[in-house]
Amino acid sequence: MTMINDNNEYASYWLNSSKISRYPEITKDMHVDIAIIGGGITGITTAYVLAKKGLTVAIFEATTVMNGTTGHTTAKITAQHGLIYDEFIQHFGVENAKLYYEANRLARNQMEKWITTLGIECDFQQEDAYIYTNDSNYIDNLKKEAEAYKSIGIEGGFVEDIPMDIANQGAIVMKNQARFHPVQFLTHLLQEIKEMGGEIYENSVATKMEEGNPSVVHFRNGNKVSANYVISASHFPFHDDRGFFARLHPERSYVVAGKPEKEFTGGLYLNAEKPTRSVRAVTIDGEELLLFSGDGHKTGQGKPEIEHYEALEHWASKHFGVKEFKYRWSAQDLISLDKLPYIGRQHKDNPNIYVATGFRKWGMTTSVVAAHIIKDLIMDKPNRFAELFSPARFQADPSLKKLIKENVNVAANLIGGKLDRPDKEIKDVANGEGAAITYKGKRAGAYKNEAGELFVVDTTCTHMGCEVNWNSGDNTWDCPCHGSRFSYTGEVVEGPAEKPLKKIEVE
Ligand SMILES: Cc1cc2nc3c(=O)[nH]c(=O)nc-3n(C[C@H](O)[C@H](O)[C@H](O)COP(=O)(O)OP(=O)(O)OC[C@H]3O[C@@H](n4cnc5c(N)ncnc54)[C@H](O)[C@@H]3O)c2cc1C
Ligand code: FES
Repeated sequence: MTMINDNNEYASYWLNSSKISRYPEITKDMHVDIAIIGGGITGITTAYVLAKKGLTVAIFEATTVMNGTTGHTTAKITAQHGLIYDEFIQHFGVENAKLYYEANRLARNQMEKWITTLGIECDFQQEDAYIYTNDSNYIDNLKKEAEAYKSIGIEGGFVEDIPMDIANQGAIVMKNQARFHPVQFLTHLLQEIKEMGGEIYENSVATKMEEGNPSVVHFRNGNKVSANYVISASHFPFHDDRGFFARLHPERSYVVAGKPEKEFTGGLYLNAEKPTRSVRAVTIDGEELLLFSGDGHKTGQGKPEIEHYEALEHWASKHFGVKEFKYRWSAQDLISLDKLPYIGRQHKDNPNIYVATGFRKWGMTTSVVAAHIIKDLIMDKPNRFAELFSPARFQADPSLKKLIKENVNVAANLIGGKLDRPDKEIKDVANGEGAAITYKGKRAGAYKNEAGELFVVDTTCTHMGCEVNWNSGDNTWDCPCHGSRFSYTGEVVEGPAEKPLKKIEVE
């Protein structure tokens, strides 16, 4: 096992340690009952619950299944999604905060039930989840959250100390949460879907959709799929006819794995203050290691990405005596304006188009919430959680101020990036380095590999024209506006962009 995969990128332990079947590319036009675009945890669990109800499903994945955020998660299964319950009570009222908790609690239990009844070997382990602080300024926040737990009826509350051996001044605990190996879990569900007659396609990029009855999804290779229902489980919605780009922002986070020097007594941990530090145990090659994650930031913005890995590793070495890191990887998730995911009918005009996104780095349970809401809506069954998560809630947007702020941030990057003329030129870029440069009077992006081979691209993002920035942690060009990512040769690594960056031939 290695920290680097065949494409010379940092590898995720989950993907590296699993035997994953490969699926064919779509090669002909076809009709399906339910087309699910995206093969991450959202697409797979939704396909599974629909197939179990006897419906015919087909998953279409742009790259390979689970290779998006799902394959690069930290895989805590919990309803403890940061310090949110007090905030949700203030914003949405206690009944809605309770519904959010209930939906995620039931999702956690459903996942355990699937694992037990289907006999899935995926290192599922029940754990208590803690948010701790070593900063006295946060004690009040923890105590308010404890009050919120009480009003909602969450098992747990404020505790003076945590089992993990680290300095702290108190914590809030949520009992009986869990952790698992997400790729082993989902690989099993994929097999079940196949056995129930579901179809799975990889390397099949959906590019646009003509809405109708049925709707027609177009793929990059020219094939078309007509479907009675279309579910956008593509992380950033592949068909953005209602301005999701203005209502979601991407944030990256980093994960490293290493063996601690001292004994770890179990539990899932998150600190209350910034930068975020998350800890959980994982068994790799028969040894108990710890996964440390955090150091999140808006994609394509802030300090060089490599420094985020270094900061996490420094912290893990200082507090847990980790000497060697076996894995490091990073990924991004999407955050909605009011911190609630968008799950349900994409818009009112067509009851057959569905979306699930905006999981705010807590998609292990919220994807399962989404699977059940979408299944019930398609089957015309009542679902008591549907209204809370409905994407339509933005027609009466309570967070208009935030919408404006997000768009100002995008506009600043759009305009600021265009005017930028970096001081660097091609000759200033060292081997193994990437940087924004000025070439022929315009902003461009240059990367030189270790052998000195040069790759130059136009840094204008092909989604909506913001300027991409170099990601030194993953050797990619990342867009600060909606999180598209491109390889150093300009190929799309992650949408919403669909077209590669223009290559520049250097004379
Ligand atoms: C570092 C990190 C740690 C996290 N840790 C946790 C955690 O501990 N617990 C937790 O609950 N959550 C966690 N999360 C969040 C969780 O991992 C995500 O919310 C979840 O994986 C999202 O799943 P998804 O299926 O919606 O998206 P993805 O896994 O990204 O799947 C979407 C898929 O759609 C495909 N796709 C995109 N566009 C197209 C197209 N046009 N055509 C076809 N296919 C397309 C993509 O290739 C991708 O495979 C974490 C997130 C990060 C970034
Ligand atoms: S402009 Fe939208 S992702 Fe780049």
